[in-house]
Amino acid sequence: MSFPVPLTDSLGRRIDYLRISVTERCDLRCAYCYPQRDSDSIPSDTFSATDVVTIAGAAVELGLRRIRLTGGEPLLRGDLEDIVERLRGIPGLQDLALTTNGQMLAGRAAALANAGLMRVNISLDSFDPDVYAAITGGGDLAAVRRGLDAALAAGLAPVKVNVVLSSPAALDRAALPAFVELVQRQPVHVRFIEAMPTCSHVGYLPAQSVLDALSSRYDLRPVVGPEGAGPARYYQLDGSVGTIGVITPISEPFCAQCNRLRVSARGELRPCLFGPAESSLLPALRGRDPTGDVLHLLEQAIAAKPRRYGDVAEPSGISSMHVIGG
Ligand code: GTP
Ligand code: 5AD
Ligand code: SF4
Repeated sequence: MSFPVPLTDSLGRRIDYLRISVTERCDLRCAYCYPQRDSDSIPSDTFSATDVVTIAGAAVELGLRRIRLTGGEPLLRGDLEDIVERLRGIPGLQDLALTTNGQMLAGRAAALANAGLMRVNISLDSFDPDVYAAITGGGDLAAVRRGLDAALAAGLAPVKVNVVLSSPAALDRAALPAFVELVQRQPVHVRFIEAMPTCSHVGYLPAQSVLDALSSRYDLRPVVGPEGAGPARYYQLDGSVGTIGVITPISEPFCAQCNRLRVSARGELRPCLFGPAESSLLPALRGRDPTGDVLHLLEQAIAAKPRRYGDVAEPSGISSMHVIGG
């Protein structure tokens, strides 16, 4: 079977990555992600497993090569292993990854790896159990630590940890040593992420402040990062096994290298995280030629990718990170 030549948009950016948010449900309530005024009803998931496979199949047929499943919390779906197994059956798919809060990962990492999941990114904002619980609205640090260990044991490598710099208090100097110790001990890649504006009030700390704090104590060497396609820049620290990374959407936007499209948990196709939805995939998914029609909409979304997020119309904040999937 032959596959299309690599896709590029009108600005010459190689588009090879699709993020699919498989549920907007979440068991946590991180202030930087989840709207503080919660609706009372629990939304049901828009996509069936077959919908997710159709979307991914169309994307790969078009020439995208990497799929990341996001949420909400994808592990709230009992059929996630089934979805993963069916996605791995798509010829031409080269990378299949998951972003999770890790709360339920310990019991499912092995099954997900057996189903064909390749790698996992885990949100873990603090190694202080009280700070972690405060940021996440009640999360259990011990559970996510077990999830991290299970991911390593299951070979879901490279394992990455996401730390959103949502408030200076969350990352005072005392918190850094725990992350340093982790990358010195384990092949884990900890990425400090500048908080992007959402409807909830979130603080902002430039990622450079973390690098400054670390470089006063350790030798930081820029390195080619682990397998992945995202915007992080990585550093090895005193010859560590893992790395420290930074993701700088605010201080140093990476739109010129943007390689991705997003499908939200409500079925919207988004050319840019900060921009409006280009279209809904739902009519196509419920129509007579789902794969062909989704493929066509994906092509249109690539054509509609803005040069940078400053060019899109969304006002000051994203109201629905948990729907879009980050
Ligand atoms: P890999 O490098 O392939 O492992 O993935 P990733 O780092 O892109 O994925 P992940 O879901 O772990 O996202 C890490 C952080 O980067 C999150 O805070 C995302 O919201 C943010 N992010 C990912 N893609 C983009 C993007 O296109 N634009 C912006 N502004 N932020 C992004
Ligand atoms: N700013 C930066 N990162 C965010 N995430 C969620 N909301 C935000 C935000 N406002 C991250 C989560 C998760 C990833 C998918 O997106 O930490 O790891
Ligand atoms: Fe849930 Fe992840 Fe958003 Fe936190 S960042 S509320 S864990 S989807």
